[in-house]
Amino acid sequence: MSYANSLLVVLLVPALTSVVLAADKSRLDDQTQIPQVPVKKMAPGYFQPPADAEIPANAFGEMVRKGEALFINTKALAPEYVGNEMNCVNCHIDRGRKANSSPLWSAYTMYPAYRKKNNKVNTFAERLQGCFQFSMNGTPPEATGEVITALTAYAYWMSTGAPTGKPLPGRGFDEPPPPRGGFDIARGKLLYEAQCALCHGADGEGKKVGTAYTFPPLWGKNSYNWGAGMHRINTAAGFIQHNMPLGRGETLTDQQAWDVSAYINMHERPQDPRLIKGDIELTRKRYHEDDGVNLYGVKVDGVLVGQGVK
Ligand code: HEC
Ligand code: HEC
Repeated sequence: MSYANSLLVVLLVPALTSVVLAADKSRLDDQTQIPQVPVKKMAPGYFQPPADAEIPANAFGEMVRKGEALFINTKALAPEYVGNEMNCVNCHIDRGRKANSSPLWSAYTMYPAYRKKNNKVNTFAERLQGCFQFSMNGTPPEATGEVITALTAYAYWMSTGAPTGKPLPGRGFDEPPPPRGGFDIARGKLLYEAQCALCHGADGEGKKVGTAYTFPPLWGKNSYNWGAGMHRINTAAGFIQHNMPLGRGETLTDQQAWDVSAYINMHERPQDPRLIKGDIELTRKRYHEDDGVNLYGVKVDGVLVGQGVK
């Protein structure tokens, strides 16, 4: 990994500098364009989940281990519920442990909870089912079946000692504020080519080693669908700023995170499974208009975004 990292640095530094300079020239009087030193360092003091070695050697511990395995190798272990080429761990980094990557230890303790997304109080099982339907573009497993039981056991165990009903620091993705001048898709494309394409592919298709994806797809038929939380530019910007480029999180400015997030989320992906009567406009009005910042049902360069790919 260290070889790959040093290679990356050599390749990326000149390209990155030119993007920053180009942005600078266009808005000389706007201080937000000055290359920023990353501000949000990983602060110490996040909740510490127990280590794997502490998983008990009994029936409960076995279920926790099953859940952890499912979380890491979702596609391989539960293919009947996964419609794309993703695993839970692709977005919930470090086996669901990493702060600001929507860690499981901060999630389990916050349910049941009302969700605007489906306008009702959701159990933790229903919340997990939602990630299967949208992030995994699949079919939700039975709430009482072993897949949901195992994932719940894993999340419950990981939150051992955490307070119930109290949002912990590091929950969710901690989104950067929207840049004052908005986001710029063309600039996002340049950044993508310089810092992301190496791993995720020139066309966001991801990369396989053998039959499994080592670098997950960011758009196209094998990625998350148009109903997933990651399709929101604000949400993906938070994920990206804290976690990407892999191993070099916290290096992109707010502006860069928004630009590249917008570039990723203007590309086609599987249709929103809630599509109403085949009508993107109706679906936008009902489900996307109030859902953060997103391009579903919006025209970009004259092309309607949100048509979906199979
Ligand atoms: C494409 C990225 C992605 C993948 C893959 C993914 N998730 Fe998520 N997950 C998210 C996002 C984004 C959110 C926040 C969603 C929102 O705010 O609507 C989230 C939220 C959650 C939450 C609630 C967190 C909280 O604090 O309330 C849980 C639990 C969860 N995911 C579990 C899973 C499980 C289990 C899987 C695999 C079956 C999975 N996720 C796969 C992106 C992903
Ligand atoms: C060194 C390789 C590497 C680079 C460079 C890289 N990524 Fe990633 N990215 C990964 C890996 C690996 C994962 C999945 C992490 C895991 O499973 O633990 C990931 C996950 C993601 C995800 C969530 C999963 C998905 O498929 O939607 C997004 C979004 C993402 N990366 C965006 C970016 C962006 C934007 C950049 C450039 C700023 C970038 N990445 C650069 C390796 C990389």
